[in-house]
Amino acid sequence: MQISDIAAVVTGGASGLGAATAAELAARGAQVFALDLPASLDRAEPVDGVSLVAADVTDEDQVGAAVEQAAGAGPLRVLVNCAGVGTAARILSKSGPHDLGLFRSIIEANLVGTFNMLRLGAEAMARTEPLEEGQRGVIVNTASIAAFDGQVGQVAYAASKGGVVSLTLSAARDLASFGIRVCTIAPGIIDTPMLAGVNDEFRAGLAAGVPFPKRLGRPEEYAQLATMIAEHDYLNGEVIRMDGSLRMAPR
Ligand SMILES: NC(=O)c1ccc[n+]([C@@H]2O[C@H](COP(=O)([O-])OP(=O)(O)OC[C@H]3O[C@@H](n4cnc5c(N)ncnc54)[C@H](O)[C@@H]3O)[C@@H](O)[C@H]2O)c1
Repeated sequence: MQISDIAAVVTGGASGLGAATAAELAARGAQVFALDLPASLDRAEPVDGVSLVAADVTDEDQVGAAVEQAAGAGPLRVLVNCAGVGTAARILSKSGPHDLGLFRSIIEANLVGTFNMLRLGAEAMARTEPLEEGQRGVIVNTASIAAFDGQVGQVAYAASKGGVVSLTLSAARDLASFGIRVCTIAPGIIDTPMLAGVNDEFRAGLAAGVPFPKRLGRPEEYAQLATMIAEHDYLNGEVIRMDGSLRMAPR
């Protein structure tokens, strides 16, 4: 699919992987709508071709309004779901069992939020004129290698990302008759603000654990892959690891 002269929505678009993807899509000529929470939008760098829109991905009305805004600017053909949150808590610890509300909040943001975007984004894409071969749009989700290699303390995060992995093929099959493709990227360790609290020594240790290249991934590499998936008409229903062949140890 050609990325120029289309509208695109990127969630989590104020920071990290989402911001890099929004900038890449805009550089290729898309009108990009970067959805994020107000507090993150306040810290976002302005980028030509990227409109910042306040929306919580778990909120039906806010997402509905944001998607309609994007669809009003041009045919909505690309949705990249990057919004997400992480946490660290074990099932059992000295302070007792894992907080149930915390588990629910991670599932809500990462899995329910992705699904809310998927369903409302797909509805807007389905209204566009079909392109060659009947294609209307493409949706790229973001899981994590934690979906496969969940570490100690990642039970909620791993479950939420496992859900994103598992819905990918089903979503691609559901939306095939509308000409909408669905793929998911499962990143390894990428150098984004999500790692802001990590000191240099720990960061170097993380990099040393990656077989090759021996470094953390770059947000631009995620953006490159998301853009390639959008452009590559035969990629559908697939989960792609982007991790330098890293397989996470238990801790
Ligand atoms: N950085 C990594 O190493 C890594 C690895 C694997 C997966 N991921 C996943 O990649 C995605 C992007 O992560 P990142 O590293 O760019 O993090 P980040 O913290 O830089 O960006 C995430 C953005 O999502 C936004 N967000 C969170 N909840 C939201 C909500 N309910 N509604 C709207 N926006 C919301 C945040 O405000 C933030 O701007 C996440 O889903 C994360 O789980 C990141």
